[in-house]
Amino acid sequence: MRDPFKREVRSLRISVTPHCNLRCFYCHREGYNNSKDRSMTPEEIGEIVRAFLDFGIRKIKISGGEPLLREDLPEILENISNPRIEEISLTTNGTLLERYAQVLKDAGLHRVNVSLDTLDPEKYRQITGYGDVNVVKAGIERAIEVGLTPLKINYLVMKNTLEDLEDLMDYCREVGAILQVIELMPLDKTLRRYYVDITPIEKRIEEMADKVVKRRWMHNRRKYYIGDLEVEFVKPMDNTEFCRHCTRIRLTYDGYIKPCLLREDNLVDILTPLRRGEDIKEYIREGILRREPYFKL
Ligand code: 5AD
Repeated sequence: MRDPFKREVRSLRISVTPHCNLRCFYCHREGYNNSKDRSMTPEEIGEIVRAFLDFGIRKIKISGGEPLLREDLPEILENISNPRIEEISLTTNGTLLERYAQVLKDAGLHRVNVSLDTLDPEKYRQITGYGDVNVVKAGIERAIEVGLTPLKINYLVMKNTLEDLEDLMDYCREVGAILQVIELMPLDKTLRRYYVDITPIEKRIEEMADKVVKRRWMHNRRKYYIGDLEVEFVKPMDNTEFCRHCTRIRLTYDGYIKPCLLREDNLVDILTPLRRGEDIKEYIREGILRREPYFKL
């Protein structure tokens, strides 16, 4: 189904928990919503996903909080696995990945994105509150070993991590990961001090690249190949092109359809009707109809 701006909806991002074991100072706390204290069961998530299939959803991304904090994550994956889903991926901080990579792979997960903004242990600890970068690296390497690939490293560029680009490129080459360079969304005054425009980095990478590919279904984002290394860029702020090609819709951990990452005022409760035994298709339709580009011309 298309939204009122003629955009198809192909990817569903499901936040499975608001909790996290790190405290990254920049976090937009995607999964967080303190309105109601409830969360979806694996079976409910499965039912909602199956209802979404008829609206064109082909890809699922699991996020949080930190999704690996949910002990029933394998059950969640088993409930959403479906031949009509092309890809199930997950965004994680990687701290628990070494332990759970194999279990998640066996439960039907295809690939992971791991947040890693620096390889410097001290700086990593400053950014995340109390994370250990070596534990995350072990998690990444284990995930690649068990085949949760292509694995992407989410590298958030800020004033204090700009200098880490080369290190992360080298690391990605070494382990065989894709580097995803993300621009900071300066959500408040403090964050604005850390903001760096990533356009010049993209220019530099473009000059080094042997090949460039445009990703039509992914905000029209481009990816670059430098030898074996793949580098992608994510620049959502004030980016009308990004919104115009957005094909995502979200589900919060407490069962609301969220039409846009940057808005809290247009959610649609889908868990209450599901629990009442109503047909939830109408609510999905409503969620899609409420989709609107956040940045538009
Ligand atoms: N700006 C941009 N990206 C953010 N993320 C979290 N907070 C922000 C922000 N303020 C992204 C990071 C992380 C992923 C889970 O969410 O890239 O890897």
